[in-house]
Amino acid sequence: MSIFEFEHLDSLAVRAGIERSQFGEHCEALYLSSSFVFKSAEQAALRFAGEDLGNVYARFSNPTVTAMQTRLAALEGAEACVATASGMAAILALAMTVLKTGDHIVAAQGLFGATQQLFAGILSRFGIETNFVSSTNAAAVQASMRPETKLVFVETPSNPLMEITDIAALADIAHRGGAILAVDNSFCTPILQRPLELGADVVIHSATKFLDGQGRVLGGALLGAKPLMDEVYKYLRTAGPTLSPFNAWVILKGMETLRLRVEAQSASALALAQWLEQQPNVQKVFYPGLPSHPQHDLAVRQQKLGGAIVSFVVRGGREAAWRLINQTRMIFITANLGDTKSTITHPASTTHGRISPQARLAAGIEEGLVRISVGLEGLEDLKADLLGGLEDRHA
Ligand SMILES: Cc1ncc(COP(=O)(O)O)c(C=O)c1O
Repeated sequence: MSIFEFEHLDSLAVRAGIERSQFGEHCEALYLSSSFVFKSAEQAALRFAGEDLGNVYARFSNPTVTAMQTRLAALEGAEACVATASGMAAILALAMTVLKTGDHIVAAQGLFGATQQLFAGILSRFGIETNFVSSTNAAAVQASMRPETKLVFVETPSNPLMEITDIAALADIAHRGGAILAVDNSFCTPILQRPLELGADVVIHSATKFLDGQGRVLGGALLGAKPLMDEVYKYLRTAGPTLSPFNAWVILKGMETLRLRVEAQSASALALAQWLEQQPNVQKVFYPGLPSHPQHDLAVRQQKLGGAIVSFVVRGGREAAWRLINQTRMIFITANLGDTKSTITHPASTTHGRISPQARLAAGIEEGLVRISVGLEGLEDLKADLLGGLEDRHA
C-alpha cells in the first residue's frame, strides 16, 4: 500500500516521506552526508546526466531533505516541493526561476519586510519592477496588472496586520493576465489553509515558523506543479541555497505535531484577542477570528481557524508599545513566530524597521503596534504577563 493511500492529513504528517534504510530504523534517519558514493564510473556518469535517479551531492539532493519535501507536499496537496535554506531563499529561488529583466511583480502592500526589500531593493537593480498594492482590494490588484506582470505575490494572513487576501479571486486575476499567483502560507500552514486548492500556483513557506514550531532551525520551501518545481530545482542545484539535512530532519519531525500545535495555539490566540479587545488601553486588535476583523467572513471561508498571531495597537505610540513589551516576564521578545513559546515584537522598529516611515505608515504599521505569536503556555499566564503593561497606561 502506498503511503499516499492514507487520506487523512494526520497520517500523512507522521508517515509521508519515510524510506527505511537497510538498518530498519523506526524514526526517520538523518543522513548527514554531503556527497554520495557510486558503484562505478558508469553509474556516476548516469547520475550526473540525470539518467539514473539517485543522490549525487547534497546541493542537489539528500534523502533527509527529500523526506521533508515529500511530507510537506503531501500536507499541502502539492505535486512537488523544493526545500530551501530559509523562507527568504525560497522567495529568491522563485523570483530567479520565473522572472527576467523587464518583468513586473504585483505584490501585497503588507508583505513581510525582507520580502518587500528583496523585491524593491534588490530585484529592482536587475530591471524587475514591483508595484505594491493592497491585496485585499482585488480591483487594485487588477488595475496594477501590466502585460509584463509575471508574478502576483501575497501573504495571507499578512504579517503583522493579519489582512486576508481572497486567494481564488487573485488567482483568477493573475491567470487572466498571464501571471502566476504565489502565496506565502507561513502563517496558516496547510493545517489551516491549502492555497493550491484555491487556485494558487505556488505556495511558499518559511519553515522556520510553524513547521519547525520550536524555534530551532531556519528553513524554507516552495510547492506547486512538478514542471515548475523542476525549474526551481535547477536554480537551486546551481545556485546552492539548499536546505541542510539536519534542518530538514528537525522540520520533518516538527510536522508530526503541526496540527495539534496550530489548533491549540489558534484557540488560545482567539481567546487572547477577545480579551485584548476588552482592554481600555488597546485601541484595536487585528485577528481574523474576531467578527470585528474587516475580512472575517472571508477568513471563515478560506481558513479553518484564525491562526496563532495576534496584533494590536496600544494607546500611546512607540513609548507605550515598548513599555508593554519590556515589562513582560514570560513572553520572549524576539522576532520569530510560530513557536510553542509565545513571542512579542514591535514591528515598526524590528521586522519592518528597514522600510521608510512613509511606506510603513501607508502599510498600516503604526508605532503603537505590537505583534504576539501565541504559543502553548496557559492562557491565564499570557494575560497576566501582558496585563501589567496594559494597566501601566492608567498610572
Ligand atoms: C510571512 C513570512 N515569510 C517569509 C519569512 C522569511 O523566512 P525566513 O526567516 O525563514 O527566511 C518570514 C520571516 O519572518 C515571514 O514571517
